[in-house]
Amino acid sequence: MKLRRGSPTLLVNAIERFTPFFYPQVIGSDAKTVNHDMAKSGNENLRKANKAKNDEFYTQLTDIENELMHYKDHFKGKTVLCNCDDPRVSNFFHYFSYNFEFLGLKKLIATCYKNQNSELFSTNNSEKAIYLEYTGDKDGDKIPSIEEIGINHLQGDGDFRSKECIELLKQADIVVTNPPFSLFREYVAQLIEYDKKFLIIGNKNAITYKEIFQLIKENKMWIGNTPMSKDLLFGIPDNYAQELLSTKKQGSGYKIENGKVLGRAQAVWFTNMDFSKRHEDLPLFKPYNETDYPKYDNYDAINVDKTADIPCDYSGAMGVPITFLDKYNPEQFEILDGIGRYSMLDGPTEETKGKYLTTINGEPKYARVIIKKNR
Ligand SMILES: C[S@@+](CC[C@H](N)C(=O)[O-])C[C@H]1O[C@@H](n2cnc3c(N)ncnc32)[C@H](O)[C@@H]1O
Repeated sequence: MKLRRGSPTLLVNAIERFTPFFYPQVIGSDAKTVNHDMAKSGNENLRKANKAKNDEFYTQLTDIENELMHYKDHFKGKTVLCNCDDPRVSNFFHYFSYNFEFLGLKKLIATCYKNQNSELFSTNNSEKAIYLEYTGDKDGDKIPSIEEIGINHLQGDGDFRSKECIELLKQADIVVTNPPFSLFREYVAQLIEYDKKFLIIGNKNAITYKEIFQLIKENKMWIGNTPMSKDLLFGIPDNYAQELLSTKKQGSGYKIENGKVLGRAQAVWFTNMDFSKRHEDLPLFKPYNETDYPKYDNYDAINVDKTADIPCDYSGAMGVPITFLDKYNPEQFEILDGIGRYSMLDGPTEETKGKYLTTINGEPKYARVIIKKNR
């Protein structure tokens, strides 16, 4: 049995036979159904939606394709793990199974979390989970078929921190997924502990977390190729779509595309795999002057409001917008710190407590990355 490109329905049917539930295969909630269902929705749905929130944002195939195209050389002969991915709805599993031969993969493994529920999206209330293994096309047609995909039971619920999931992690060379935002710190710490290559989606705010910023400073993790300004939209469970439709304006929390309600998140790709844009110099042409580049009141660096305006002839510390990380070439610049109210590396100290580090003449600026030129 072959899996149709763009719709892993047949895989769903096979898993359905393996597990006794039905999983329709639609990513993004239908706007009309949601509106109709809103009348029926009560506190129960809202309660569930609150729980789901950003931890149940499902990545769209186009966003995966647009990012993954920049890393092809990294995947040859490698085992890829998608460890927060219900294969019934995961476009990560879909992408890697269909591009298995194109990328020259050795193996693809996908584990999911508390997945045995008859709703479209996992509601995380089963203590059992499954994992899938795919080692490529066997019959020469380069299309993944049910017979070629191994479907196995996990002993536990598929938590990425569980012993059996860590055993799968150890097998993997590269981890690619969109993990639950609420566990992002822990998720990244585990990848670093097991020395894995990774390409993952996280919230932009995570950049300012002490542990994450430290990794970015040390060039152990950086922003992926997709610009931070790109609006990433995600498939969401119906109950969360209902909440968004009733509490947010279109464009703020959600967008409707082709009749589907898609959730908006301040999401960005993080990776420790190299790609060519990371080594392109940012052209600098503005000369430094004291008026346009004042120093912060409480921090020894000049302020630069736009990345494009980084002066070409200033060799000291400069505070630039967080979006600078899109243009960051570690040969051209060094990252020294990050500042907002406090240093992102040091947090509040005796010296900085009560001072806002980005203020200029008492007016705070947005968070800044402190950099200096290397050449
Ligand atoms: C943001 S969603 C992304 C799903 C999928 N990776 C994608 O991109 O479409 C995060 C997923 O992680 C799962 N999850 C939550 N806690 C988990 C845990 N402790 N271990 C593994 N997965 C978890 C959630 O059920 C959810 O499906």
